Amino acid sequence: MSIQARRHEDFGIFDGFPVQPPNELDTLRQAIEDRLGHWLNPDAARADLLTAAMRAAALGAGKRMRPLLVMLVARDLGCTSPALVDVACAVELVHAASLILDDMPCMDNALLRRGRPTIHVQFGEDVTILAAVALLSRAFGILAAAQDVAPAVRARLVARLAETVGTQGLVQGQFLDLRGNRGTERDIAATNELKTGVLLGVAVDMAAIVAQAEDGVAASLRAFALAAGHAFQLRDDFLDVAGNDSAVTGKDTGKDAHKATLINAVGQDEARRRLALHLHDAERHLSDALGARQTTRRFVEGLFGRVPAGVPN
Ligand code: IPE
Ligand code: IPE
Ligand code: MG
Ligand code: MG
Ligand code: MG
Repeated sequence: MSIQARRHEDFGIFDGFPVQPPNELDTLRQAIEDRLGHWLNPDAARADLLTAAMRAAALGAGKRMRPLLVMLVARDLGCTSPALVDVACAVELVHAASLILDDMPCMDNALLRRGRPTIHVQFGEDVTILAAVALLSRAFGILAAAQDVAPAVRARLVARLAETVGTQGLVQGQFLDLRGNRGTERDIAATNELKTGVLLGVAVDMAAIVAQAEDGVAASLRAFALAAGHAFQLRDDFLDVAGNDSAVTGKDTGKDAHKATLINAVGQDEARRRLALHLHDAERHLSDALGARQTTRRFVEGLFGRVPAGVPN
């Protein structure tokens, strides 16, 4: 697996991997982006600064990993409910809100995101905070109104997303990242799980809820997502390594030089080995959950590259 800096567009989900018929993923991405645009007021001509900030936050050139996971896992579980695209949008709006807050001067103080100036640089800090709150509440509103799912299922989806965002999830992870991470491997793992893993976890959980998957399958999917979350945060930490070009990664680099990351704790070689181990775990849990069904597996391989042979169980 190579985690070298390449051109910006090469960090995308396809990574030159000849496995997924590209038009299928393209079609799903487009459906997600169209629906996001719908939820964020398509009448941009009349939009005020707040709406413009929300649209810029959510519609920028992201990989759409989390909403694609919702759609692909559900598909592998044999579910094609029309509610899925809205569930996928809800997860992506939470992600967008988390990114614009994460970039603010009081947090990571970042200037560049997805190849563009960060939202507070474009629209101001006041508008950014309000846009984040509005994106989060839009996410819950979308779930609460989801069509084609029973009211009890809708309630479960809302509850799962609420615990993912709050003090048991993303917010706690960001708090630990900023204030509570002492740099031990244990602290770093706990932080990464909460700030990154749980959102991947809720993506697969919500797919399993809509698809009415068995408990054992849902548990394996969640284990897959948490392992993939560790791998993904490590991959992201490698993108930040000083010397990488932000024109290539689409975001600031060298920000984590003095942060409690696993790369800083154990060094690049060991971190690379850990990344491969997490990917190996992810693959194993995915096989437990989905057996021979391959759509999600091909997507994950496209994102990370194949796990090298010889990684121990
Ligand atoms: C960045 O996530 C934040 C992390 C959790 C590491 P992504 O790399 O998925 O960001 P986009 O959505 O593609 O911009
Ligand atoms: C993940 O960590 C941030 C969120 C959970 C929003 P980072 O702070 O490393 O993400 P990037 O590198 O800014 O995208
Ligand atoms: Mg951060
Ligand atoms: Mg950051
Ligand atoms: Mg990062």
